[in-house]
Parts: sequence; C-alpha cells; structure tokens
Amino acid sequence: MDKILVRGGKPLKGSVQIRGAKNAALPLMAATILAEDTCVLHNIPCLHDIFSMDKLLADMGMTIDFTGRSMTMEPQNLHKAEAHYELVRKMRASFFVLGPLLARFGKCRVSLPGGCAIGTRPVDIHLKGLEALGASIRIEDGYVVAEGKLSGVNYALDFPSVGATENLMMAATRAEGVTRLTNVAREPEIEDLAHFLNAMGARISGAGTDLITIVGVDALGGAEHIVMPDRIEAGTFLTAGIATGGDVTVLNAKAEHFPNFLKKLQATGAVVEIQGNKIRAHAPNGINSVDITTQPFPGFATDLQAQMMVLMTRANGVSRIKETVFENRFMQVPELVRMGADIDVDGNTAIVRGVKSLSGAPVMASDLRASAALVIAGLMAQQGETAISRVYHIDRGYERIEERLVGLGADIERVRE
Ligand code: EPZ
Repeated sequence: MDKILVRGGKPLKGSVQIRGAKNAALPLMAATILAEDTCVLHNIPCLHDIFSMDKLLADMGMTIDFTGRSMTMEPQNLHKAEAHYELVRKMRASFFVLGPLLARFGKCRVSLPGGCAIGTRPVDIHLKGLEALGASIRIEDGYVVAEGKLSGVNYALDFPSVGATENLMMAATRAEGVTRLTNVAREPEIEDLAHFLNAMGARISGAGTDLITIVGVDALGGAEHIVMPDRIEAGTFLTAGIATGGDVTVLNAKAEHFPNFLKKLQATGAVVEIQGNKIRAHAPNGINSVDITTQPFPGFATDLQAQMMVLMTRANGVSRIKETVFENRFMQVPELVRMGADIDVDGNTAIVRGVKSLSGAPVMASDLRASAALVIAGLMAQQGETAISRVYHIDRGYERIEERLVGLGADIERVRE
C-alpha cells in the first residue's frame, strides 16, 4: 500500500485544473443503462471509483471504451440485470444502477451496499420510492430483488437523499405516466444528471429545485455529455491554499456549485475572487473562526466539512462545526489532535480552538474527505513530517493529488509502504 509523505510550512501558490466531478460521473455512468444507443461521456476523472463502476457495467454486458477522459458506452449487449456484492461493496455508488436496471429490464438483483466509515448509509429511501413507483421489493441474502412495471406517482422523500433522488429520477424516466418527486436533493450533480437524461430523450423538469417532474417515455436513445467540474475538489484546493498562507486559483470551477462554502470562506476574512470559471482565494491578513453547519444543498456541503475543520485549527478564535448529514463524519478529529489541534467533539458538534501551528505526525486515512483534510493538515504543519497511510481512500476521489500539489509548490511525495 502507498503512503503520502508531507513536509509542511510552504505556502501553496499558483493555479490547478479541476477535474470532472466524481459524484456526477458515477450516476451518469449508471444512467447509460437506460440508453438504447451509444453514449459518450467527456471530462471523466481517472479515479478508482470510476474504474469500479466501469467494471460493474462491463460485468452486465456494457461495452466501454475509456480513452483519456472520454468514455464511450455501447449498451446494446446489456443482458445481466445483476450487481454482485463483490463489486458493490467496493463502491456504494454502485447502488445507483438499481433504478436504471429496474426501468430497463423490469426485474433486477442488486447487492445492498452495506455501511462505510462515515455511517450505516441505509437505502430505505431508495426502496420506498421504488415501491411507490410500483416495484415489488424483497431482500434476499443481502440483495435487493426488485421487479414490476413502473407507473408515475406523486412521492415525497423522507430526506433529500442525493442517491435516492438520482435512483428514483432515473427509474421514473421509463414509468408509465407522470412522476412528481418532492423533498428531493438539489445538488448540482442532480441537474447534471437530468441534463444528460433529457439529452437521451427523457422529459424531466425541475431538477435543482424541490419538485422534480418526470413524464415517462417508452425508450431513451444515446447522448453525449460533458461531466460538470468537481466542486468538492475545487473547495479542497482553495482551502489548502488559504490554510498554508498561500494563494491558489482553481480553473474550470463553477462558483454557483458551492455558494455556501465560498461565502463561509469569505466570512473567515479570506479574499475570494471569482472570474468566470476561475476562483482565486488567499488570506493576506490571516483568518478568523466561523461556525459551520452542514446541510443538503444549497447549505454547506458535508463533503467540505473536514477540510474546513482543518482550516479552523489555525483560525483566530473558536469555531463550532455541526455535522447534520452523516452520523460519523469526524474521523479526522483524533488524527488532527495528534498533530496539535485543539478540538473537542460533543455529539454531532466539534468545537475547534485555533492554535499557533500544527506539527507533522504519522496519521491514518479513514474516509475520502477526512483523508484529504489530513493532507491539508500536513501541508500546514510548521514542523515535522506527516506520513499518511491507507491513501487508497484519497485515490478514490482525487486524481494524483500529490502531483497536483507539487505543481502548487508543496513538498509532498508518494512512497510504497
Ligand atoms: C452522496 O452520497 C455522495 N456520494 C456523498 O459523497 C455525499 O456526501 C452525499 O451524497 C451527501 O451530499 C455520491 O454522490 C457518489 P445521501 P449518498 O443519500 O447519495 C441518509 C464523497 O465523499 N440516507 O444524500 O449516499 C444517509 O445515511 C461521498 O464523495 C438514509 O437514511 O448520500 C445520510 O445520513 C461521501 N436513507 C444522509 O441520508 C437512504 O435511503 C445523506 O445521504 C439514503 C440516505
């Protein structure tokens, strides 16, 4: 297994190209199951999770040519409406194939994804929604067996789950009649998926609002689509720039995709300049603490909570960070405390008191975003070396992060353990 070694104290400076969004590309790939003809997806990030989804779809009979950052998908030979545990357990977003498989084949068998480090991650909202659309659902040996002809329905989700919204929106494209989904997720990735489905011939309106209307159609054709930029990667690099007292510009990012995060960054006293799809952030006069509460979009993104927490470890004052989306998303805390941070956790709230500096230490990555936060902490540390183990967590969501940070002046390298 690889390790990442970081020697901190150097301000990051320069610009970095933001890649395609992992959390858009994965449902977009699942949506090609609905197509009767060739699909092409551009700006696909080269990440482990993408390769896992590629493997899963190929196992079902999808012909995939992934060259550079473009993926050509030929769905004509799709013949297996099954997603095995071995493939689903590696990447929970595999569960997004459930809605498309059911809509295309009328019957499918998909492994339950199981929990992960940040929580139990149940799928009840997905299943209740599919039942409302007319599917019969049963759980058999750890698999969801779903079957039935889908009919349009008015359905309110218990919680604006991103994955459930995507699964139900995809399933409803082929339901008989009109489906109206409310209390849905409004993340930009939902709109990106709706754009692609409509290009395939679906009739979806309202994606990005709290009412999505889907008029069912008999078939969906092929389409070409460019994956939206990764707002979480953009937020991660901007935070790293400020945390190291540097000056970083992200290229090909859309400020409207993470407005709350940028507003909070400005509230710390950082200077955030937006010019089209370039965003620059630096903090010439240091940063002050701010309070954060994670919420579904358009609230503060839970996927940027750990990165913001690291920034707060050196802010002037005390920051209260409340995590309301996942039940166990403070795994970065004990590792940061070992690096000299002053953080207390009380239930779903972390109290972060700014300290003068962090010190490097051996730390362990746990989940994707907590691991990225540890990299930022290592870059911030004024003395010592930070050795981050289990970096496969980082590789799931960030493409060659150490090479791109070197491009910004970081002293960071990847070594074989
Ligand atoms: C998506 O996960 C993202 N993953 C996550 O990013 C992101 O953190 C999350 O949305 C929230 O924005 C992908 O898009 C591949 P949810 P998802 O369903 O769809 C509960 C990353 O780091 N819930 O919106 O799984 C759930 O337990 C990853 O890139 C139910 O109770 O998130 C959680 O507490 C991590 N029942 C909350 O809702 C359900 O049926 C939000 O989950 C579904 C969800």
